[in-house]
Amino acid sequence: MDKQKVIVEMKQVYKDRPQGIEHTLRVLNNAEVIMAEENLSDQDQELIAIAAILHDIGIPRALEKYGSSKSTFQEQEGGVIARSILEKLGYDSDKTDRVCYIVGNHHTKSKIDGLDFQIIWEADLLVNLENMEISKTPQKLEGYIKENFKTQGGLKLIKKEF
Ligand SMILES: [Fe+2]
Repeated sequence: MDKQKVIVEMKQVYKDRPQGIEHTLRVLNNAEVIMAEENLSDQDQELIAIAAILHDIGIPRALEKYGSSKSTFQEQEGGVIARSILEKLGYDSDKTDRVCYIVGNHHTKSKIDGLDFQIIWEADLLVNLENMEISKTPQKLEGYIKENFKTQGGLKLIKKEF
């Protein structure tokens, strides 16, 4: 499936929140850099790109419904919205399930159960770390990186940026 179609849908959901589009495209770019270092099939790369494009798709609705983008709200809303977008675009149903699992758990480290999810975790964290206090404390940051980054590509990016 053409990832541009998914990007068009994401931009529609985020039409009033341009910063969300910018964040998402940065996460997608990180995921693509990390993927390039892994031995992944074209189909897996496509799935990971789609998961990156949709990972935060639940935020606008979580804010609308609950006035909060708390992880549990955006994960719950995100899984549902991601499914409706991918069904509309006719994406494979098993792969849709996998994308929705990742989107619906993307802030829950204990749910990481595969390289695809791990890449999304690292790609998102690379952007979010810029606003996290921990990035300003070198000793703490080192331990945090060890706990959260496993891929060669992710480790290279984090060393370059922090
Ligand atoms: Fe994110």
